[in-house]
Amino acid sequence: MSKTIAGFSKLSKSKKIDWIANTYFANAENTKAVLKQYWNDNEKLQQLHDEFIENTISNYYLPLGVAPNFLINETLYAIPMAIEESSVVAAASKAAKFWLDRGGFKTTVISTTKIGQVHFMFHGDYENLKSFFDTVKQKLITEAKPLTKNMEARGGGILDIELRDKTADIEGYYQLHASFETLDAMGANFINSCLEQFAKTFKNEALLFSGFCEEEKHLEIVMSILSNYVPECLVRAEVSCKVEDLSENKAISGKAFAEKFVRAVNIAEVEPYRAVTHNKGIMNGIDAVVLATGNDFRAVEAGVHAYASRNGKYSSLSHSKIENGIFTFWMEIPLALGTVGGLTGLHPLVKLALELLHKPSAKELMSIVAVAGLAQNFAALRSLTTTGIQKGHMKMHLMNILNQFEANDAEKVILVEHFANNPVSHSAVVNAINNLRKE
Ligand code: MEV
Repeated sequence: MSKTIAGFSKLSKSKKIDWIANTYFANAENTKAVLKQYWNDNEKLQQLHDEFIENTISNYYLPLGVAPNFLINETLYAIPMAIEESSVVAAASKAAKFWLDRGGFKTTVISTTKIGQVHFMFHGDYENLKSFFDTVKQKLITEAKPLTKNMEARGGGILDIELRDKTADIEGYYQLHASFETLDAMGANFINSCLEQFAKTFKNEALLFSGFCEEEKHLEIVMSILSNYVPECLVRAEVSCKVEDLSENKAISGKAFAEKFVRAVNIAEVEPYRAVTHNKGIMNGIDAVVLATGNDFRAVEAGVHAYASRNGKYSSLSHSKIENGIFTFWMEIPLALGTVGGLTGLHPLVKLALELLHKPSAKELMSIVAVAGLAQNFAALRSLTTTGIQKGHMKMHLMNILNQFEANDAEKVILVEHFANNPVSHSAVVNAINNLRKE
């Protein structure tokens, strides 16, 4: 039976592990051994990881892979990807190679504006509120100067603050809707600190504003927080080539492939059940690079899916067309990323990933991440509309099944060779292992 515990966070790491192992596991010693197996021998490095979060008991590994041969705006990249799904890095690498021979990927950063809001309640006269906002707006910015001066020196900072009337949605609900340029920082801490300062100034100044009646002076700040919806922090990634150049073999002509591909994208544009899976494939590429570069994949996920629904219906993030014999496949996607701050200067593997990417600016990282998403989507659609997805997927999954059955190196060599020419399925692999072991 599970128990509650008081003061867990104050226990030492080893006491935390003892308590967890003894309370939740049949074999406490085995549990402790598994947890410790993943500790790093380098104590300083382990301590760094311990201190990223509270109550750390071990490290959770994900493979870090590399997809080489990405030509993006005429520069070659090997893209680091942290992901557990067997076929993702292979698919990205294949798509990179395919487009390397066809001009590579082109990207444009369309905009880099981020948003934060102070949500507040006010139950008085709107005109009085508006006149208070106009009076106090400059002071909101001035009193945030200690927070913004470094960012401003680099060319960023607060872009604007608007008063937004949301009373049609909730009685008495208004916002300070602020926009920011955070340059190479993702900017969450910068934006949240500015917003909390706006809220403080706004509340204090309201108490002193002579245009308010007594009740109006006591507006209520509900919360101050950045928005992870960043439709104005947008990057476009694109590939294009002559339709006939799409063909790699005689099995399908470039024209037939392009037409089927465009139809598959059209389906994802109109059918939400398909769009979610289509976009999931895009996120396979995006999340893997976002994670490898120490960025916040939950923020990216939330923002991207909101963007996919911006027209009132969940739809494909990518689009494709054939025009004048040219096949074009593209995507515009909101990405709030940083290459300074957060984990970027702290996590040794994140630093390594960023160096591998030629130490990109946030804008360059937006491009690289968007390309990884588009490449992944291209690879998935190419398989789906030609061979079917399982062929490639199960080939990559083969090693997981072999490991599940604890195949040794010699068995792996024989079985990988066998499945090079035979369809992979879970039962086929199990049969093959059993037959091999009977021999
Ligand atoms: C699997 O992780 C991703 C796919 O389902 C994406 C897609 O269907 O487009 C293959």
